[in-house]
Amino acid sequence: MRVILLGAPGAGKGTQGALLAKKHGVERISTGELLREAVRRGTALGQEAKRYMDAGELVPDDVILGMVREVLGGAGGGFILDGFPRTLEQAEGLDALLEELELRLDAVLVLRVDEDVLVKRLSGRRSCPECNAVYNIYFDPPAVAGVCDECGAKLVERADDDADTVRRRLQVYERQTRPLIDYYERSGTPVKYIDGDQPVEAVQAAIAAMLKPA
Ligand code: AP5
Repeated sequence: MRVILLGAPGAGKGTQGALLAKKHGVERISTGELLREAVRRGTALGQEAKRYMDAGELVPDDVILGMVREVLGGAGGGFILDGFPRTLEQAEGLDALLEELELRLDAVLVLRVDEDVLVKRLSGRRSCPECNAVYNIYFDPPAVAGVCDECGAKLVERADDDADTVRRRLQVYERQTRPLIDYYERSGTPVKYIDGDQPVEAVQAAIAAMLKPA
C-alpha cells in the first residue's frame, strides 16, 4: 500500500495514518514527527526546522525532500505519507523519487473537516513525548488525565498548538497545500474524499471501504 494522507492541521492524518500503518503492516512516514524528533535531539536540521515550526510556517522544501529521500528508500515499497507532500515543489519531488524507485501511488486520501472543529481538536490535543501516542481532552482522553495509556509518560501540548500558531498553520494549509488536491486530480492517481468529522472508528471504516479493490 502506498498512499498520501492530505488534510488540514487537525484533520486526523496522524490518527488515521497510525491505524492504517498498523493494519496494513507498512511504515507511516510523518514529516512532522521526523522534524519534532530532530528538534528533540537538537540536530542542525532540528534547530533550523524549529524556527519555521514555531511560527506555523513550512520548513523549506529542500530540507523536507532530503529527509524524505532518506526514509522512503528504506520503507520496503509500502508507506503511508502523513503531512507530505505539502507544496507543489514537494509533490513534484515525490513524483521524481517514486519514478527513481519504480513505485506508484495507490491513492491520495483527503480528510475533510470544518475549521471550527479543527481548532477545537488542536486546542485539546495532548501527545506522548516518549511513544508519540496522541490523545484529545475533549474527544479521546487518556484513562488518567495527563498520563499516556501506552507507556505512562507525562503528556505534553505541542508547541505549535497555541491559538495564534494554529491560525497561521490553517492559512498556510489553504494557500500552499490545498492546491495539491487539484494537482493529484490531474495526475491520474485516484483521489478519495473522506468526511473526517466523524468518530475515529467511522473515519477508519470509510477509509477501509475506499481502499477496497472494486
Ligand atoms: P505536522 O506534524 O504534519 O502537523 P499538521 O499537518 O499541522 O497536522 P497535525 O499533526 O496537527 O494534525 P493531524 O491531521 O495529524 O491530526 P491528528 O491525528 O494529530 O506538521 C507540523 C509542522 O512541521 C508544520 O506546521 C511545518 O512547520 C512542519 N512540517 C511538517 N511536514 C512538513 C512538510 N512536508 N513541509 C514543510 N514543513 C513541514 O489529530 C488532531 C487531534 O484531533 C488529536 O488530539 C486527535 O486525538 C484528535 N482527533 C483525530 N481524529 C479525530 C476524530 N475523528 N474525532 C475527534 N477527534 C479526533
